[in-house]
Parts: sequence; C-alpha cells; structure tokens
Amino acid sequence: MKKRLQEELEKARALETWANNVTHSFAWRLIERFDRLRRRGVAPPEAGKGLVPDLVKPGVEADADAGVSQARRNSKLPNFLKSYDQLTKRLLQTHTREHAMSLAVGGGDFEAIGLLEYHLLTQYGLKKNDIVIDVGCGSGRLAFQLSRHNFEGDYIGVDIVQDLFEYAMNLCKRPDWKFYKAPGLTIPEPDESADFICFFSVFTHLLHEETFLYLKDTKRVLKPNGKIIFS
Ligand SMILES: C[S@@+](CC[C@H](N)C(=O)[O-])C[C@H]1O[C@@H](n2cnc3c(N)ncnc32)[C@H](O)[C@@H]1O
Repeated sequence: MKKRLQEELEKARALETWANNVTHSFAWRLIERFDRLRRRGVAPPEAGKGLVPDLVKPGVEADADAGVSQARRNSKLPNFLKSYDQLTKRLLQTHTREHAMSLAVGGGDFEAIGLLEYHLLTQYGLKKNDIVIDVGCGSGRLAFQLSRHNFEGDYIGVDIVQDLFEYAMNLCKRPDWKFYKAPGLTIPEPDESADFICFFSVFTHLLHEETFLYLKDTKRVLKPNGKIIFS
C-alpha cells in the first residue's frame, strides 16, 4: 500500500514542473493530489507548494497546506475570474501574441482543434442560419472555423478574458458577430434564443457547482430543440 502511494508521489512530482507551465486547472488537480497524499502521510509538507502560487492568491485565500479544494469552495471570488486573466497576461508577456493566444486555450494545433469543434457542431446538425453561443470562446478556435466555412447564422462568443475574445473577434473578421465579456456563470441572452450552446474545455476549469449554474442557464437560453455541446 505504502509502495503504491510512494509511486503515486513520484508521478505527481514528475508532473509538477510541467503542470506549472501548461494549465492551471491541471495544476489545481495536482495540488489536490498532493494534499491527499499529505493526509495519508506520504507527501512532505512542501510538496506541491510551488505550483501556480500567483494563481492561488488573491481571491482564494489559501495555500496548498490548508487544503485548496475547501478554500476554493469558501472563497468569495470565484477562482476562474482571476486565474485565467492572470494566465493570459503572463503568456502575453512571455510569448508572441499568436503563440500566447494559442497557449492560453490549451496549446496544440489551433486550427485542427477548431476544425474538430466545428465538425462536432455540423455532426450534431448545425444549419447555415443557426444561432450559436460559444461560452468560453477563448481566442476563437471555433469562431475562426465557422467564419472560414462561411457560416451565415449568428455567433455569440463570450469569455471572461477580454484579451482572448478580442483576439477571436479580430481573427474571424465578422463585424455582425457578437463578442463580449462573460459575467461568469450565466449567459445574458434571451430565453429560448439559441440553437447551439457550446462549452469547449470550459467545465474543466470550474467546480461542479459552478458548472451546474451554467447548465441551468443554458437550459433557459436554448430553443426547445436546441443542443448543448461540451467537452
Ligand atoms: C481551454 S480554453 C478553451 C477555449 C475555447 N472554448 C476553445 O476550445 O478554443 C477555456 C476558456 O474558458 C474560459 N473560461 C474559464 N472560465 C470561464 C467562465 N466561468 N465563463 C466563461 N468562460 C470561461 C477561459 O477564459 C478560456 O478562454
């Protein structure tokens, strides 16, 4: 048993540096994993403490020792509102704009992933004149492909990070499409107005309770036969 936990600690250690550079949601999970291992008496007190310290504070008054999950649940300000903005700003300082905008939404092949997202929508019946709301639109992987495929319907891209949705807006060159700052857990659009509401890689950044609130509002905004697509 102890050996298995030791192996788990080794693995968590190996992922530590990588997580710090790649995605803060992954880092969150890793901090929680260290926390669990510490409670079982395997991980030393300092394990995981170097992970995204600037994303943990302020807003979330916590440190890995105090048990991040609990602190995040108790915090007044949802973590995602600050942490994603900080991540994007840091990437913009250290990379070219294009590269930062790709890294901020997870890195990888910007166009190929957008294409996958686009084809998921078409596979689920996207029609030329549908209304699509892209919650957490990021830097426009989906929006860019919709514009490239001459989608003629209405597209609404919302995100909590202004740098990201402004980049998306410039990328797809569709002045008739709407981009704006998301309040965080609601979709400020009329009842029964959208054919598709997408959340690509958004719920992975939220607590289950936060996801629940978003899904509740999604039900309100979707047309009766509308579809929600999430990953
Ligand atoms: C991994 S990126 C994915 C971006 C885009 N959906 C895509 O597939 O390219 C996650 C996005 O969700 C946004 N986000 C995080 N929490 C959010 C929230 N509560 N409401 C809206 N967007 C959020 C982030 O700013 C980021 O742009």
